[in-house]
Amino acid sequence: MKIRKAVFPVAGLGTRVLPATKAMPKEMLTIVDKPLIQYVVDEAKEAGIEHFVFVTGRNKGVIEDHFDRMFELDTTLAARGKEAEIELLARDQPEAGAVSFTRQQAPHGLGHAVWCARDIVGDEPFAVVLPDELVLNRPGCLAQMVEAYNHLRDKANVIAVQEVPAHQTHQYGICGVGKRHARGNMFEVTSMVEKPPKGTAPSNFSITGRYILQPEIFKILEKHERGAGGEIQLTDAMIGLAKSQSFYGVEFEGERHDCGSKAGFLRANIAYGMARPDLRDGLIAEMKKYFEK
Ligand code: G1P
Repeated sequence: MKIRKAVFPVAGLGTRVLPATKAMPKEMLTIVDKPLIQYVVDEAKEAGIEHFVFVTGRNKGVIEDHFDRMFELDTTLAARGKEAEIELLARDQPEAGAVSFTRQQAPHGLGHAVWCARDIVGDEPFAVVLPDELVLNRPGCLAQMVEAYNHLRDKANVIAVQEVPAHQTHQYGICGVGKRHARGNMFEVTSMVEKPPKGTAPSNFSITGRYILQPEIFKILEKHERGAGGEIQLTDAMIGLAKSQSFYGVEFEGERHDCGSKAGFLRANIAYGMARPDLRDGLIAEMKKYFEK
């Protein structure tokens, strides 16, 4: 069944990037000239997603505004003949009815955020995309996962995975590595653990912020069981679902950027700036000045 819907959990407080996120959602932090949330929505669109579900919270209204039309802006740009800007805004504008917003109401964890989207998702497989992780690549990470998913039998779940150094495994969900699929870049997941204590991880393969899940996950999330950090963890619900359905790890191609940390955010700005033909030369010239200091 086609993956039509993607859930974007955007209720987080963004405490790792304060004070930038005191009054502004972290998902609106800008990488070059677009907010983070626009990058992941574009990635989802490229993967064939038709409906975008945002699980928001207090102080996140500006995300809703970002995906709405701005009549004052449209009218002013039209009056000034600014065709390029009009085209730019039109390109980013989702079709009417293609976005839904629901509120998490309280910070109970990623699993709880995903559960809040259950009625909007309904009884079909769906994607989850965490907006503070960007993957620089074409085709995008989610498109690679959908492609891999289409090679699997019914009721399979797919998670994007990437190896991290051993000293970082305690910061992520980690999965155990089983039999390789004939496609090569995909393996059966034998176990999953959320933020394992140092030295206990089953492998170096971290779960990154992209998932394709079957709707049965909601039945497990509905139990509201708390795990690592006292939160309702998506990883724990996936462990439950893995008892009856298969999980595959997809080793995607692309550079991963954790934009929810200050260093990762700065690195992403440089990487995405360097990938832009219109900005690259100027950026190199500016950076050289700093290296020479
Ligand atoms: C979440 C997931 C974790 C995953 C990580 C990727 O953790 O729970 O399994 O590895 O995203 O960014 P968080 O970063 O929200 O603590």
